[in-house]
Amino acid sequence: MTHPPIRTAVFPVAGLGTRFLPATKASPKEMLVVVDKPLIQYAVEEARDSGIENFIFVTSHGKECIEDHFDVNYSLEQMLEQRGKTAELEILRSSQLAPGQAAFIRQQVPLGLGHAVWCARHLVGNQPFALILADDLILAKQACLAQMMSAYEQLGGNVVAVMDVAPEHVNRYGILDVVNDDGVHVQAKGVIEKPAPEQAPSTTAIVGRYILQPEIFKILEQQQNGKDGEIQLTDSFPSLIKQMPFHGVRFKGQRFDCGLKEGWLEANLAFAYTRPDLKDHLLASIKKHCGLDYH
Ligand code: G1P
Repeated sequence: MTHPPIRTAVFPVAGLGTRFLPATKASPKEMLVVVDKPLIQYAVEEARDSGIENFIFVTSHGKECIEDHFDVNYSLEQMLEQRGKTAELEILRSSQLAPGQAAFIRQQVPLGLGHAVWCARHLVGNQPFALILADDLILAKQACLAQMMSAYEQLGGNVVAVMDVAPEHVNRYGILDVVNDDGVHVQAKGVIEKPAPEQAPSTTAIVGRYILQPEIFKILEQQQNGKDGEIQLTDSFPSLIKQMPFHGVRFKGQRFDCGLKEGWLEANLAFAYTRPDLKDHLLASIKKHCGLDYH
């Protein structure tokens, strides 16, 4: 059976990012830089590498620079061209989205991830779509979303990226109630948002990558507030599972939680280590500064 291809991705970027204050006081958390690229650009590149052609950003007040980031910067382009800076010009152009590829819609009130996704319903329309949370940064040989697309071609329905977490960390994630597990594909019969360890049905946790069917919008529309008084995306999954299959994919790659300082710091080290222009300097810097007492 062939399943309709996924060409649209939603990027919820309306969150406040208070964990990163003061860095996020006047700049969105999605613009936090890992090595030399903002988190949201990694997310867009992952989507582009996975065949996505339409990019929908759910923004909020104060997030205008995300829109600018993916736009054309004519004066900078002209200046780089005049000065013959071709490498820089190429880098600049790689952050542009093509005309008509990007759409921005606002979530006026911070009512949660489920509400943010629902805000994109008219732009997505009646087709399956991908959802990417930019603060989950994934270092992988093959883009995580592309790995999920392959699973989706086989399985259809809804597909989420999953990883196994320590039992004491289940309360940070959406956790699958597993019915079938072949080591890579995990079929779920339920999902619970951030359960207490003693209530968790498994330790298989959702990472911020989803392929979802449009039926989710109707469910979200009628949904009550859940954890933290917000419309939680995860709370819509049990109703979705009643209608169609729901699978997790244990992707190949390393995930960094860049919503936390520790995860963001680790991501910087790991991504810099993959860069031939930075690797040696990174290793030398660690040697130089470890053990030094600056106080
Ligand atoms: C969100 C989801 C959660 C998921 C997590 C992945 O939580 O609600 O189900 O496991 O992303 O990072 P958040 O981290 O935004 O609180």
